[in-house]
Amino acid sequence: MKQFEALSGSERAALLQKAEEPSQLERELLASNQLLQALTEVQTGFIHGRPISQLFDTLLSILLKLTASEYGFIGEVRRTAEGKPFLKTHAITNVAWTQELREFYAREAPRGLEFHNLKTLFGTVLTTGEPVVSNSPSVDPRRAGIPEGHPPLRAFLGLPFHANQEMIGMVGVANRPGGYDENIIQFLAPFLATCGSLLVGLRSEQQRRRAEQEVWRSEANFRALIEQCPDAILIHRKGQVVFANTTAVKLLGVSRPEELQGQPIASLVEPGEEKALTQLSSASAPSEVRIRHREGRQILAEVVTVLLEFYGEPATVCLARDITERRQLQERFLLNERMASLGAMAAGVAHEINTPLAYMLSNLNYVSEELQALAGAGGSLSGDHSREILDALAETIVGSNRVRDIVSNLKLFSRVDNEKHGLVQLHPLLDSCVKMAWSEIKHRARLVKSYGPVPPVQANESRLGQVFLNLIVNAAQAMPEEGGDSAEIRISTWHEEGAVVVSIQDTGKGIPEEHLGKVFDPFFTTKPMGVGTGLGLSICHGIITALGGRITLESKVGRGTTFQIFLPTTVPPPAEEERRGRDQGVNSYSPPG
Ligand SMILES: Nc1ncnc2c1ncn2[C@@H]1O[C@H](COP(=O)(O)OP(=O)(O)OP(=O)(O)O)[C@@H](O)[C@H]1O
Ligand SMILES: [Mg+2]
Repeated sequence: MKQFEALSGSERAALLQKAEEPSQLERELLASNQLLQALTEVQTGFIHGRPISQLFDTLLSILLKLTASEYGFIGEVRRTAEGKPFLKTHAITNVAWTQELREFYAREAPRGLEFHNLKTLFGTVLTTGEPVVSNSPSVDPRRAGIPEGHPPLRAFLGLPFHANQEMIGMVGVANRPGGYDENIIQFLAPFLATCGSLLVGLRSEQQRRRAEQEVWRSEANFRALIEQCPDAILIHRKGQVVFANTTAVKLLGVSRPEELQGQPIASLVEPGEEKALTQLSSASAPSEVRIRHREGRQILAEVVTVLLEFYGEPATVCLARDITERRQLQERFLLNERMASLGAMAAGVAHEINTPLAYMLSNLNYVSEELQALAGAGGSLSGDHSREILDALAETIVGSNRVRDIVSNLKLFSRVDNEKHGLVQLHPLLDSCVKMAWSEIKHRARLVKSYGPVPPVQANESRLGQVFLNLIVNAAQAMPEEGGDSAEIRISTWHEEGAVVVSIQDTGKGIPEEHLGKVFDPFFTTKPMGVGTGLGLSICHGIITALGGRITLESKVGRGTTFQIFLPTTVPPPAEEERRGRDQGVNSYSPPG
C-alpha cells in the first residue's frame, strides 16, 4: 500500500472523499436510528391521543422515506360476510392520475379505500400471509396488471403484520431503486410491530366508541321516553328532586323543570303523605297521594314508586298519574246512582204521603175556619180554651205544610228528564227567587245584585229557579238572626267562554272543612230538626249536572261561602246597554204582598 504522501493529488482526493462517506454499517445504523425515533414519536402520539388516522399517515411517510419507495399503503385485513379477505387502507399515497380519481381519493381515502381483487401482488400477501417481494413485476405471474395511467410498477414489497398470531394488516411499498430484499424485510420488523399495535389500538378505540354510542343511544332513548311520558315522572335522591319530566312540571304547576330540582320531595305533597313517594310500590298496587299544585289546589294522584339507577347512582323514581277528574267522575256517578235509587223510593213515598196529606190539610183548614167562625159567633167554644185549640190547629197546619214541602222536594227526585226546556232569562228568574226568599233575607242581610250582560240558557225554568232559591235561602240561613251592617248576600252574573256564571255569595258562618265533601250528599244537613231536609244541594247538583253545567263551592269558616253555577251556552251575551241592576243594593227592596 502506498503511503498517503506518495499518492497523486487525484488519488488523495478520492481517498479523502471515501473516508467522509458513511460505511454500509453506519448507514444501516443511521437508518434504524431514524426508524426507532420515528416509531417512538408515533407511539407517543398514540399515548397522547392523536387521531390514529394521522399516525398511520406519519408511519406511511416514514416507510416511504426509509425504504426509498415511491408510493405505498398501510391497510387492515378485513373479511367479507363469506370470509374472503380484502384490504381496507388506513394510509395510502395519492397516486391518482386523473382529475376524477383525484377527487375520488380526496373524498374516500380518509375513510379508507377497499381492495377486493386477490389475484394481485398484495392479494397474494392476504391469501398466503407471507411477505411478497417482486422485483420484476411486469413478468410476475402473481400480478394482475395496473390500470392505464397508473404510475409504473417497477418493484413491489408486501409485508403482513400480526397481532396474537393473527394477520391483521399489511404494508405495501413500490419502486425502490434496485428493488427490495431480505435485509429490508428484517429492517422493517419493528415497523410492522408498531403497525400491529396501532391497529389493535384503533380497533379497541372503535369498539369503545361503538359501545359508548350504544350507551348514549339507549340513554337518549330512555330520556326521550321519560320526557314524553303522559304520566308525571319525578326522580329523587336523599329526599330531593333530581329530575322531573314535562308532565310533572305541568302537574305541579311550575314553569320549568329546574324549579323543581333540589326541592324537598315532602314539599310537593300534603303534609304527612310523602311516604307514597318514598316507599316502594308496584304498578298493581299504586298508592294515592294528594299533590300540592303551585296555585294551592290539590291534585289526587296514583303513584308507583320504584328504585332505579339514574346517572350511575341509585335513585327513587315516582310515576304519578292525575286521577282527580276520574275520582270526581266516579263520585258524581255514585251520587247519580244514589239519586236514581233515591228517586224511585222518593216517588213512591211522595205518592203515598201526598194523597192522605192533601185531605188532612184540607180537613185541618176546614176545621180551623169552622172553629174560628164558631168562636166569633159566641158559640160554646170561648176564651182560653178556644185559643189553645186554635193554636194547636195552627201548629198542626204549619207542620203539615212542612211535610208537604218535603214531599214536593222528594218528588223532584223522581222526574229528571221529561220536563219542558226553553231559553230562560236568568235575571228575572233570580229576581223572583229573591222575592220568594225575602222573608228569610230581610232581617239578616243586605242583598246586592251585580248582574252582568248574560245570554239566556237552555233549561227548565222552575227547576233552575229551585236551584237559585235553595242557594239564596241557604245563604240567608247561614247569617246570624240579626246580621248587622256587614252581612251581605251578593248575587252576581257574568259570561265567560261558552258559559254563564251565577255566583251566590254570603258573608255568613261558612262551612267547616270536614263538611265540604258532604254538603252535596242527600239528607246532609246541619240545620235543626224541622228547618232543613238536607236535600237542597243534592237536588241543585242533580239539576245543574243534568243541564251539562257544574256547581262549585268555596267557603271559609267565619268569612262566608260562595257557590258558583256554570251553565253552558252557545248564545252570545247581549250588548253592554242591556245590563240591568248592576251593583244595585236592594236592602230597601220589598216584595209585593
Ligand atoms: N251558604 C251556606 N253557608 C253555610 N253552610 C251552608 C251553606 N249552604 C249550605 N250549607 C250547609 O250545607 C248543608 C246542606 O245544604 P242543603 O241545601 O243541601 O240542605 P239544607 O239547607 O240543610 O236543607 P234544605 O235545603 O232541604 O232546606 C246545610 O245544612 C249547611 O250545613
Ligand atoms: Mg238548603
